[in-house]
Amino acid sequence: MSRHPLPQNKPTPTTSSRSSSTRKTRPRHNLVEIATRLAGQHEVWEPLVRYDPISRYYARLAHEPEFEAWLLTWVPGQGTDWHDHGGSAGAFVVVRGELTERTATVSQLGPPRLVDAPRVLSEGSLRAFGTKHIHQVTNNGWEPAVSVHVYSPALVEMNSYAEDGPRLWQTGSQLIGVNW
Ligand SMILES: [Fe+2]
Repeated sequence: MSRHPLPQNKPTPTTSSRSSSTRKTRPRHNLVEIATRLAGQHEVWEPLVRYDPISRYYARLAHEPEFEAWLLTWVPGQGTDWHDHGGSAGAFVVVRGELTERTATVSQLGPPRLVDAPRVLSEGSLRAFGTKHIHQVTNNGWEPAVSVHVYSPALVEMNSYAEDGPRLWQTGSQLIGVNW
């Protein structure tokens, strides 16, 4: 499994690639089912676990027409920037260790606003999210963490955000593999 699977597999992030006619989306309950099933299949993801203190490690678990699944690992202190998922819905399960998720509410009336209380996700925790979800995920624990993520449609390009008081401002967009 390639640690940096982008060059071979990444679709070109064009506007047309985002259209509903070419990007099929699985219902969220299906993503929960898939993520839960994969998380329970230790023989699938455990051999792929690596920890990289320099940058977060990831490996693709599945690449289907309607969804994609990834294994992510997090040493203590590692985390993402604020990001959305470029219009993909998703679900993830913490299968080892503990992660902390901060979220923001999305409104048509203005920039996203931070939700005050972070969510601590212990081993076995499941999170499902819709196509507009914005979050920041960090391993604030003392032990390495591992999580299994499912996205539908497959991730192509994601937007990143920066905090400005209680709000978030979009700072750019990145191709998959840079942020999650
Ligand atoms: Fe994410």
